[in-house]
Amino acid sequence: TTSASITPAENSFIKKLKTSGRSLVVFYGSQTGTAEEFAGRLAKEGIRYKLKGMVADPEECDMEELVNLKDIPNSLAVFCLATYGEGDPTDNAMEFVDWLKNGDADLNGLNYAVFGLGNKTYEHYNEIALFVDHKLEQLGANRVYECGLGDDDANIEDDFLTWKEKFWPAVCEYFNIEPAAEEFSVRQYKLTEHVDMPAEKVFRGEIARLNAFQNQRPPFDAKNPFLAPVLVNRELHGPSSTRSCMHIEFDINGSKMRYDAGDHLAVYPTNNAELVNKIGEKCQADLDQVISLDNTDEESTKKNPFPCPCTYRTALTHYLDITNNPRTHVLKELAEYCSDPADKEKLLKMSSTTPEGKALFQQWITHENRNIVHILEDIPSCKPALDHLCELLPRLQCRYYSISSSPKLHPTAIHITAVVVEYKTPTGRINRGVTTSWLKEKHPSNPPALVPIFVRKSQFRLPSRTTTPVIMVGPGTGIAPFRAFIQERDVAKREGKPVGDTVLYFGCRKRDEDYLYQEELQQYVDSGTLILHTAFSREQANKVYVTHLLEQNKDEIWDVIGKKNGHIYVCGDARNMARDVHNILLKVVMEKGNMSELQAADYIKKMDSQKRYSTDVWS
Ligand code: FAD
Ligand code: 2AM
Repeated sequence: TTSASITPAENSFIKKLKTSGRSLVVFYGSQTGTAEEFAGRLAKEGIRYKLKGMVADPEECDMEELVNLKDIPNSLAVFCLATYGEGDPTDNAMEFVDWLKNGDADLNGLNYAVFGLGNKTYEHYNEIALFVDHKLEQLGANRVYECGLGDDDANIEDDFLTWKEKFWPAVCEYFNIEPAAEEFSVRQYKLTEHVDMPAEKVFRGEIARLNAFQNQRPPFDAKNPFLAPVLVNRELHGPSSTRSCMHIEFDINGSKMRYDAGDHLAVYPTNNAELVNKIGEKCQADLDQVISLDNTDEESTKKNPFPCPCTYRTALTHYLDITNNPRTHVLKELAEYCSDPADKEKLLKMSSTTPEGKALFQQWITHENRNIVHILEDIPSCKPALDHLCELLPRLQCRYYSISSSPKLHPTAIHITAVVVEYKTPTGRINRGVTTSWLKEKHPSNPPALVPIFVRKSQFRLPSRTTTPVIMVGPGTGIAPFRAFIQERDVAKREGKPVGDTVLYFGCRKRDEDYLYQEELQQYVDSGTLILHTAFSREQANKVYVTHLLEQNKDEIWDVIGKKNGHIYVCGDARNMARDVHNILLKVVMEKGNMSELQAADYIKKMDSQKRYSTDVWS
C-alpha cells in the first residue's frame, strides 16, 4: 500500500514521528482518560530508553499507516486499550478495531505491545486488548512483550506498574538498548500567568467552546453539554432511612435533545468549593490567578491539559479530579516538593515498585482512602507548585445515570434516580460523592439551578413489539430504566395497543425506608400494566433478595423467555446481583428447558446476541 504518501499530513503519525525524530508511538483507546494517562506516561518514559515517544489518538490518525511504521528504525507501537460494556472498544478506538477485524493488512515488521484496561466485574474482561494483541500477531507483527491486563475492580495502577516494570527491560533487550542510568522527570506543560486577560477570553467551566455556557447552541453532546434547569429534586427514601435517594427532573425544553427509554444521562459535576480552597491554601497559591498550561511538545494534538486560559479555581472546580486516589506518578512528583526529607522518602517509597512501596501505597492511599487534599493535609511539608499539580491531576469525568423517564410520557423532561454517595474513610473523614452531593443542593429556583448534561445513547431497549413479554430485574436504583420502560408500556396500553406481560422484580432493605416509587408502582399494578415481585431484604431475620424470588418463579421465567420468546433485563449492581441473576437464569434454562450446562450457556449467549437478555449495570 502507498496510503502513507497520500495521507493528509495532519493525520499522518508517521510523518509526525519522522519530523520530530521519534520512534515510539503510544495509541490509546480511552473513555474516561485512564488509558490516555497511561499512554502519556509510557510515551514520556521512552526517553530514558532512547525511544522518544508521542501519544496518539487512533481516531485522529490514519491507522492504516501502521504498515509503514517499520520504515522508522527501532520503531515501536504501544496500545493502551480499554474495554467497555459488552466487550466494546472505546468510541475513539472503534474505527481502528473495525479495521483490524475486517482487515488483512500486512503488518510484517511492525513491533508492538498492548496493555489492556478492563474490569473483572464484567463479562468480556479486557476483550478488546486481547483481540488487538492477537490480531496484530496474526497479521504478521512482532509482539515485543506480552499483553498486560489491568483490572479496575482491583488495582489497575498496580497492574500497570507491574507490567511496565517488565515491559521496558523487554523493549531494551529487543532493540539492544542500554537504558539511561537515571530517571528524569520533565514537565509536559509550560505555565503562563496572565495579567489583564479580558474576562470573555477566560474559560469558566465550559467543556470545549469558550462561552458555550453563556451562549448555548445545539446540538448538545459530550463536548457541548446543555445547561438544564432543575424542575424537581425530591427525596425518595422514607424518614427512617439513613441514606438519601434523589428523584431529579431536568427540563430539556427547547434543547432539541432527544432520548429513548434505556438511554443514559451524563452529568458534568462541580467539585466542592471547600476542597478546592484547601488545595489553594496548601499550595499557597492565588486561586484567582488566570493561567495557561501549554504543551511543550508542539507536535502533540493536545495543546492544553484542560481548557485554557482559566483561573486555578476554575481548573480545580470544573476540570480536575481532586477526589479519587492519586496514582503513583503523581506521588513521585509531589515528593520533590517536600521540605522534610522523611516526607519525601515516604512519598518516593509509595511511588516505587518495590514490594514495600506497593504495600505502603495499598495501605496509605487505597485502603485509608486518601485523595490529594488528604495527602497535602497529612504531609504538611509538601507544598507543590499548583501549576505542576494541575498538570498531574486527571480530568474530572462526567457521571452517567440511567434515565428513569420515557419520552412518550415526558418529551420535554429527563428524570434520573440517584443515590447520594457519602461514607466515612478509615482516617475518620467524611467523603462525599462529587456529583451526587452537588446535585443534592440543586433545587428548583428562580433563576433556575442549571446542570450541564447530555444524552448518551445505549443498546438497552424494550422489544420493538409491545406484545413481547418482558421480565425486568432492578433492585435499588436498578429500578431507574425500568420506570421508563413501564411508562412506555403503559402509554402503549392506554393507546389501545396489545401489550405483553410486564414483570418487575424490585428489591430494597425495608418497605418504609428505601422502597423507590412505591405509589407509582402500585398504580401500575392496580391498572393491570405491571406484575410486581418485591423482596425486602432487612424486614426479617433472613435476607430476601430478588434472586430468591427468581428462584421460586422458574416456571414463570421459562414461560416468558423459553416459550414466548420474551426479553429479560437486569439493572443495578454489577458486582454481585447481576452475576447471581445470570447464574439463576442458567439454572432456569437447564431445568425448565431440559438442557445441559453447556447448552444452557449457549442458549443465554444467543439471547444476549439477539438482545433478548440485556444488562445495564455499574459497580
Ligand atoms: P464519586 O465522587 O464518583 O464517588 C464514588 C466513588 O466513591 C466510588 O467509585 C468508590 O470508589 C467510592 N466509594 C463509594 N462508596 C464508598 C464506600 N462506602 N467506601 C469506600 N469508597 C466508596 N447511579 C445511580 O445512583 N443511579 C443510576 O441510575 C445510575 N446509573 C448508572 C449507569 C451507568 C451506565 C453507570 C456507569 C453508572 C451509573 N450510576 C448510577 C453510578 C453513577 O454514575 C455514579 O458513579 C454515582 O452516582 C457516584 O457518583 P459521584 O460523583 O456522586 O461519586
Ligand atoms: P442488603 O443491602 O440488605 O444486603 C438494593 O440494594 C437491595 O438489593 C437491598 O435490599 C440489598 O440487600 C439487595 N441486594 C444485595 N445484594 C444482592 C444480590 N447479590 N442480589 C440481589 N439483591 C441484593
